[in-house]
Amino acid sequence: MKSPTNPSGPPVAIKRGNEPPPTRRSFVTAAAAVVTGTIAVLTPLGVGVAAFLSPLFRKSQSPKVQVALLDQVPDDGQPRVFPVIADREDAWTRYPAQRIGAVYLIRNKGEAKPTAFTAKCPHAGCFIGYSSGNKLFKCPCHTSTFKVDGTRLRGDGEVAPRGMDPLPVEIRQEAAKDGKQLASVWVEFIDFRTGIKERIPAT
Ligand code: FES
Repeated sequence: MKSPTNPSGPPVAIKRGNEPPPTRRSFVTAAAAVVTGTIAVLTPLGVGVAAFLSPLFRKSQSPKVQVALLDQVPDDGQPRVFPVIADREDAWTRYPAQRIGAVYLIRNKGEAKPTAFTAKCPHAGCFIGYSSGNKLFKCPCHTSTFKVDGTRLRGDGEVAPRGMDPLPVEIRQEAAKDGKQLASVWVEFIDFRTGIKERIPAT
């Protein structure tokens, strides 16, 4: 470093210990630089962590699923069971075309659209069967019995706290390979909570 000159004599060396102390302004500047640098590092990190964890907090929606062709549900009042096949996903993984449940479709005389009930028992979730002999739905786990309209046969005498859970149904016209229109039955497959009187979606 070049020594400062003394106009009236030889150069004067400045000792390091004699340097002026840092001012308040330089301290604030340094602190601001540290804060800015920290934010620059942490912001992308926080965004990455949030993106990674976001599936855990995503509210899953009830899928709308095609379960049958309308022709497969004649209007004879007879319940028919159909599997519900849909993509299933947990927080980070998608499992295509999984069986996620089953529905009963019933179409009475002259009805354009069937009624749908999930086959999951509202008591504890067992698969409800149908007995065409006495026209009753029966759960094999704790003997809850339901009429064809989904209500409980013995009301509060059943262990199931409510009737079978109905599902929203819509009919869609689809184009077949031969160009004809096919009516298909779609249901919104809602997974209801079990063991309670109220009908509340589980997710
Ligand atoms: S699970 Fe159906 S009666 Fe208990």
